[in-house]
Amino acid sequence: MTATTSSPTRPAAIPQAGARTPLTLRVTRVTQPAPDIRSLWLSDPDGRALPSHPPGSHVVLHCGERRNAYSLTNAGSEPDHYAVSVLLRPDGAGGSRWIHEHARHGSLLRVDPPRSAFAPVVSARHHLLIAGGIGITPLLSHARAARAWNRSFTLLYGQRPGAAAHLDELRTLCGPALETVQGRAALRERVLDQLGRQPLGTHLYVCGPAGLTDFVLEKARRAGWPDERVHTERFEAAALDPGRPFTARLASTGRRVPVPSGTSLLSALEDAGSPVPSLCRQGVCGECRIGVRAGRPEHRDHYLSAEERSAGDSVMACVSRATDNELELDL
Ligand code: FES
Repeated sequence: MTATTSSPTRPAAIPQAGARTPLTLRVTRVTQPAPDIRSLWLSDPDGRALPSHPPGSHVVLHCGERRNAYSLTNAGSEPDHYAVSVLLRPDGAGGSRWIHEHARHGSLLRVDPPRSAFAPVVSARHHLLIAGGIGITPLLSHARAARAWNRSFTLLYGQRPGAAAHLDELRTLCGPALETVQGRAALRERVLDQLGRQPLGTHLYVCGPAGLTDFVLEKARRAGWPDERVHTERFEAAALDPGRPFTARLASTGRRVPVPSGTSLLSALEDAGSPVPSLCRQGVCGECRIGVRAGRPEHRDHYLSAEERSAGDSVMACVSRATDNELELDL
């Protein structure tokens, strides 16, 4: 008789679902790691293990009428919960407010399964993690993985006085690998120092406000860091110029959709009755990616890698445009 390897006390793991099939998860823990941040643990109501994910992954929470992406802070191998920390944005579109007001212990939430766009490079000799404010969330999962796999890392975490999230947990987890800094000027000074003294083969990961991310990227470039060793996770993007008009051609029907200056490709497709899934609408999340069959895209997103951009076979419809007069799309 063949012995079973499944646990007698734990139900089988949830099968790895399609990337867009939402899970229904129960809020099993609520904490307040900083005055305006709420942390949730989300678990399967039947106690099954959740789909695994690499460090730096995010899930999409259905927040009333909205869907917002949040980084996972937990470890990712057959997790029994997903952990997210949600900063209340009073001037935001309402998703974070909905979570702060409606997500209670025992609530059921719809959650799109994890997606990865900010995973660590496991062959790196050292990992330099730089976080500003709520940007600590994906890097907390990076630090957990680095510690679990005994990888060399440094975490530089800048925050406002009294606003640091997960600080006690980070101190325990990281020990001397953690450096905390308060205030923008002090953080920038420490960034410059760290960028200048990393061993060859270090990979850099940065997540935080656009100002910090842009600063780190510019200084890394000037210091000679190769693009392939620099990784970013953005929450927001700077405003873009309106761009020149072009035409989108839908490959399935041959239909031509004009995209005027000041109108995004995504909006033009929506107005023409060919909607594309979208989330951030800022070129950050990767949701609106469309295949390109002909024509050269003008990439203006923060999602595609340098190789993906030069391949020219996909475009992020919410922000990117075309350098040619016509772009033929896989639609
Ligand atoms: S909707 Fe997020 S990248 Fe386009």
